[in-house]
Amino acid sequence: KEMEALFDLAALLKKPRMKVQAPLAGKTLAMLFYKPSVRTRVSFEVGMAQLGGRAVYLGPEDVQKGQRESQKDTARVLSRYVDGIVARTFAHKEMVELAQYAKVPVISGLSDVHHPCQALADLFTLREHFGKKRSLKVAYIGDGNNVCHSLMQGCAMLGINISVATPAKLKPQPEILAEALKLAKRSGAKITVTTQPKEAAKNADALYTDVWVSMGQEKRQKQKIKTLKNFQLNEALAKLARKDHVVMHCLPAHRGQEITDGLLDGKHSIVYQQAENRLHLQKAVLLWLLKGKK
Ligand code: CP
Ligand code: NVA
Repeated sequence: KEMEALFDLAALLKKPRMKVQAPLAGKTLAMLFYKPSVRTRVSFEVGMAQLGGRAVYLGPEDVQKGQRESQKDTARVLSRYVDGIVARTFAHKEMVELAQYAKVPVISGLSDVHHPCQALADLFTLREHFGKKRSLKVAYIGDGNNVCHSLMQGCAMLGINISVATPAKLKPQPEILAEALKLAKRSGAKITVTTQPKEAAKNADALYTDVWVSMGQEKRQKQKIKTLKNFQLNEALAKLARKDHVVMHCLPAHRGQEITDGLLDGKHSIVYQQAENRLHLQKAVLLWLLKGKK
């Protein structure tokens, strides 16, 4: 129910006339980024500006995690200045630690295990494209990573069927899958994990993939590319999906690796709509978390 309400608010905020108001005037968001970003950084910064607030960006060179001061001190100090923190961390436990010590809301802008703002924007995009009524099957093909985890959990909450195809060595984490299965019991979503991309793609309404080598995994690059070579989202797989399927990717994409140019640029692609919706969806999150505080 919360997700649906968030989507309703995002849809409202997407209407052009909503851009002139300043409900977050006087509010500040700290953006604590230990990893690079284009979409997450810009959509949060622009989102705050459009809502009348401001954002302060702290990159890896500013924070010098673990060298200059402990993360819990960073969280405590930032809480004295700002109304919310969006963080991008390596280990998920760093995100949890920030949330534990901060006195203001902490929004995950990606960790090694989750990417919830991405999943929310993706599910909002699916609702926008297909409407609320159609029962959907999403096929995620590739690495069982942070984007896969959050998408799986989001689908499980909303009752959207999802089939995840990964190599045996790169399956989603068992505890994340277990949680998604638990959520799916309540919503009626069907969640399957397979090593067969064709099985996942069959009759899918949405074909989704992400990079094979996530930020922080550079040392495993060669091995991962080898392991994932049969998991490319390409024209052959797209033929198995429903005729009116959509192609999704959180971006950045490595064209010719996890996805072909043809699919990314093709008529079924909604990747730029996904990217745009990060802005609208996160503005809804910011309003929920920051309005009325202080
Ligand atoms: N999709 C996404 O989070 O992109 P960035 O890493 O550029 O923020
Ligand atoms: N799985 C990717 C997502 C980037 C938005 C990463 O963590 O690098």
